Amino acid sequence: MLELRNVQVSYGAVEAVRDVSITAAAGSMTAILRANGAGKSSLLRAISGVAPLRGGTILMNSQDISKVPAEKRAKLGLAHAMEGRRLFRQLTVEDNLKLAWSFGSRKTPLPAAIDDIYGRFPILAEKAKVQAGYLSGGQQQMVILSCATIRDPDYLLLDEPSLGLAPIIVTQIYEFITGYARRSGATVVIAEQMATLALKVSDRGYVLRRGKVVLEGESKTLLADGIADSLSATYL
Ligand SMILES: Nc1ncnc2c1ncn2[C@@H]1O[C@H](COP(=O)(O)OP(=O)(O)OP(=O)(O)O)[C@@H](O)[C@H]1O
Ligand SMILES: [Mg+2]
Repeated sequence: MLELRNVQVSYGAVEAVRDVSITAAAGSMTAILRANGAGKSSLLRAISGVAPLRGGTILMNSQDISKVPAEKRAKLGLAHAMEGRRLFRQLTVEDNLKLAWSFGSRKTPLPAAIDDIYGRFPILAEKAKVQAGYLSGGQQQMVILSCATIRDPDYLLLDEPSLGLAPIIVTQIYEFITGYARRSGATVVIAEQMATLALKVSDRGYVLRRGKVVLEGESKTLLADGIADSLSATYL
């Protein structure tokens, strides 16, 4: 279980996350919703430890990790696929995967782990020897997600995996994410502007506005209440 209690993140005078409390049950998927500047990325960065906490507490498996450095959180089984397609652009697809695997649990031997990825994203097998920087946006997102999951994390943070991608690719990406969640039993937190998409696959949703939670509930209830439509009409 992942528990955030009154989490605050600031950049100098800018308060990006204000007093956010979220509980993500073990093995569940949690959606963090809202458009630009709401504080979604800052919240995920606080969880993985790349943004410092200004206040509040983060518990992972009931252990307080608030002061644990990011590398140590990664060792504890947390992976963060950041926004903006961060990967090693000069390295080939396969070398990106190998490197990511080497930082993970290594429970699955490398060749099997790589084969598994290629089975799920056959296009990555074709591009195995191509430098990641030359791939299309959708293919890069596939590599990023594969690098996050090949480490076999128990906690997976995903920052806008659908951003800027064609609908057909978004479908593939989301199938991959839900597939990993099911197989691994990992606890997944996903920041997403496309509310309908995220609510359809998640168990619980939180709507952020200016760094605060303005609405939360079971995803299916939020969907039934038409929250996704309200969000795109920016009522909230
Ligand atoms: N490194 C930084 N330095 C200063 N301010 C920042 C920094 N990163 C984010 N902010 C500010 O913090 C607030 C929250 O930003 P954040 O990126 O967390 O939101 P977001 O919901 O992920 O937005 P987006 O949809 O654009 O990705 C914004 O006002 C943003 O301008
Ligand atoms: Mg963001």
